[in-house]
This record gives sequence, C-alpha cells and structure tokens, in this order.
Amino acid sequence: MANRLLEVRDLNVSYGDAHVLWDVCLHVEEGAIVSLVGANGAGKSTLLKAISGLVRPQAGEIVFRGRSIRGAAPQEIVSIGISHVPEGRGLFTQMTVLENLELGAYPAGVRARMRESLEYAFGLFPRLRERSRQKAGSLSGGEQQMLAIGRAVMARPALLILDEPSLGLSPMVVKAMFELMRTLNGQGVTILLVEQNIHQALQVARHAFVLQTGRVVMQGPGRELLDDPMIRKAYVGSLAAAH
Ligand SMILES: Nc1ncnc2c1ncn2[C@@H]1O[C@H](COP(=O)(O)OP(=O)(O)OP(=O)(O)O)[C@@H](O)[C@H]1O
Ligand SMILES: [Mg+2]
Repeated sequence: MANRLLEVRDLNVSYGDAHVLWDVCLHVEEGAIVSLVGANGAGKSTLLKAISGLVRPQAGEIVFRGRSIRGAAPQEIVSIGISHVPEGRGLFTQMTVLENLELGAYPAGVRARMRESLEYAFGLFPRLRERSRQKAGSLSGGEQQMLAIGRAVMARPALLILDEPSLGLSPMVVKAMFELMRTLNGQGVTILLVEQNIHQALQVARHAFVLQTGRVVMQGPGRELLDDPMIRKAYVGSLAAAH
C-alpha cells in the first residue's frame, strides 16, 4: 500500500439535527493530487472543514501521518502540516497582501523562516510581490485566489486543501490555477481538491472520490472516473462546458 498521508474513516458529521456526512471514508496518498467532486450541498466543504478542525465530527477517525487529528484545534492542524484554502478564500480584505501572507506563517516553526517563506510565495506568484502593499480587497478575483493560496503555502504545508479554487474565475485564470496545482504538486505538496470543474478536476487527479448526499458513492483513478458512464451522465453539463 502506498504511503497514506491522510486517512478519513467512517466519518459522520451533523449540524444540529441535519446529518450531513455518512460513514465517509477517503484517503490521500503522499505526493498525490486527490479530487473530491459532487453536487452542491453534497457535503464536500463539510468534509474539508472536518479535516482541518473547523467542524467537529460526531463519529469516525481522521488520521494524518499515522496520528489521529480528530478533535484537534485548527491552528494545531496547520502546525502539523495541513493548510486549508476555504471556499470564498477568507482573506482579510482591509489588510495588505503582505500582511495576509505574514498571517499565514503563524506556526512557530515557520515564523522563524518568514523571509524564506515570503520568497517562496512570491516566487510562485510574482504578481503578489508587485502588489504587496495593496489592500487584499482591491485585488482582482484571480489575484485574490493567488493570495489565498500564497497565504496557505506560507505555513509550508505537506497537505494543501483547496475548496473550489477556480470558482468565479475566467477560463484563462482557471487554466493557470490548474497549472499552479501541478507546479506545487511537483514540488512535493500533496493536494486535496474540491472542484465544480469536474473535467479538469478528474484529469489532474491521481485518485478521486465522488460524494453524493453525504456518502462516497464512487472512487478510482481520476481518468477512469472521467470515462465512467455514470459520471458522464451525472455531470454531462460540466463535461460539455469543459469541451
Ligand atoms: N454551518 C452549517 N449549519 C447548518 N447546515 C450546514 C452548515 N454548513 C453546511 N450545512 C449544510 O450541510 C450540507 C452540506 O453543505 P456543504 O457546504 O458541505 O456542501 P458542498 O458539497 O460544499 O456544497 P457546494 O458545492 O454548494 O459548496 C448542506 O445541506 C448545507 O446546507
Ligand atoms: Mg462547498
């Protein structure tokens, strides 16, 4: 068995009376890009939030590098190597680009290497260096997404979790976003990706999981799922749009 960086076992999450995730199992191999796809409201963001400690599961286990992280605080989870770029980006819009980046480097071990991490982020996104004194809220949509990812990599994560990074971006910027994911992955960052852009999400993924109303209904190599008749039928709209 390949080295499992992350393993989610039989995870159940409810918001009050609403049971949203049912016995979800998912794994992410070290060095892979893994995609999680599914319709609106399927529970994708909830699963990501459970992994990064933002929502508390009722049952199940979350194991990172062989150690349980279920119930750990979000900042502790960042410190051990998981960074989450949330849906909607979660930037501090009134703060500058530089301040947003610096906030990403809050784990103590990383803060000591602030300059080096800033150079790393600016190397990935030269545009951010040019705009480092600009307020985050005044950036374009694509630039804001770059900043959100830049802030996440400031913590030097082993696992980068991206929740719909291409949402609202033009096709050219989406293409650049997928190229960036490949670049980061090539540098050794493992990626767990949620995307509405099914075609590209499956194409880039070593392995993918399909979530349907809170349950994993299918999984396999990204390219195999791309050819699966059920996937083609269920997501034909997004496939058609991608061609
Ligand atoms: N804080 C919350 N309180 C109550 N219900 C919630 C909360 N967050 C999400 N839900 C519900 O949980 C379900 C799953 O939501 P979630 O955001 O995880 O779905 P998703 O797959 O990410 O959807 P989308 O593709 O629209 O982002 C939805 O029915 C949603 O209304
Ligand atoms: Mg979501």
